[in-house]
Amino acid sequence: MSRRILIDTDPGIDDAAAILLALASPEISLEGLTVVHGNCSVDQGVTNALAILTLAHADHIPVARGCDVPLVQPSLLAPETHGNTGLGYAQLPPPPRGPIQQHAVDFLIERILAAPGEMTIVAIGPLTNLALAIRKEPRIIKAVKEVFIMGGAIRHEGNTTPLAEFNTYVDPHAAHIVYHSGMPITLVPLDVTYQCILLASDVARLQRIDSPIPDFLADATRFYMEFHDEYQRIEGCIINDPLALALTFMPELCEYESLFVDLDISGGVAMGKTFADFYRMTDHPPNMKVALKVQARAFIELFLQRMEALSQTIPN
Ligand code: BDR
Ligand code: CA
Repeated sequence: MSRRILIDTDPGIDDAAAILLALASPEISLEGLTVVHGNCSVDQGVTNALAILTLAHADHIPVARGCDVPLVQPSLLAPETHGNTGLGYAQLPPPPRGPIQQHAVDFLIERILAAPGEMTIVAIGPLTNLALAIRKEPRIIKAVKEVFIMGGAIRHEGNTTPLAEFNTYVDPHAAHIVYHSGMPITLVPLDVTYQCILLASDVARLQRIDSPIPDFLADATRFYMEFHDEYQRIEGCIINDPLALALTFMPELCEYESLFVDLDISGGVAMGKTFADFYRMTDHPPNMKVALKVQARAFIELFLQRMEALSQTIPN
């Protein structure tokens, strides 16, 4: 049976890649997208989510609009990383439909409680929606099957401050609520995602297929690669979010440790920094599984093969 998944997302170039990977993966039944502020505004993110689904002929999947600002911190978007629209140089046609009426927080609660023990959440943006859902309806903590979170930097440097990763830095208070909720979490931090580099030659391989999917990925990732080159001297681009999605059905791509993980919300230089109690110096039991090693090239190959297969079904 395929795994039932809701993606909570701030689309976002690598979010778009994760959504396409979900649609291309028979192991997964994608049952909805909930959108949150982050890489772009929530309204732009909703438009992007709908447009990506239309691109992949998946207009049956509901999209719910979520929170437009963090719980406590001021809003922080990332146009330098993902472009003004969130999708780099890609220009998708305006979507033919709108989001559902229900707020993302209520949609998450309803869908999780409707199928106790069945729904997996893949959270690939700031955790505002999920944190509010936990506060509004704590029964989802026991009802959710699993939560995969792309976020944090455990032994790795930050990508937004010298210490902090983007999703945790943008809404650290929400991350704090989710990390300490008791939900069964797998954390997918920069320690593993920064090994997963999509190269220009990988994109060129996809472009051998005449389909709007490789065209979109090429336009979106060209911007993302320019960012990585200019800001981080990385050739290619890091595709963080698709790795979190892939681990729902191919967990063997990573090695994990069960750890107590926390993050700093004290407002100083370490704001949003995640850290793990590797040596059990506190009495806290582990609160999540953390991916710490990855077979990066095997993951990129999986991503490419799935994009090729999806592209074959959607010709230009
Ligand atoms: C995370 O932040 C965003 O820029 C990406 O979409 C990803 O979810 C990586 O730090
Ligand atoms: Ca994201």
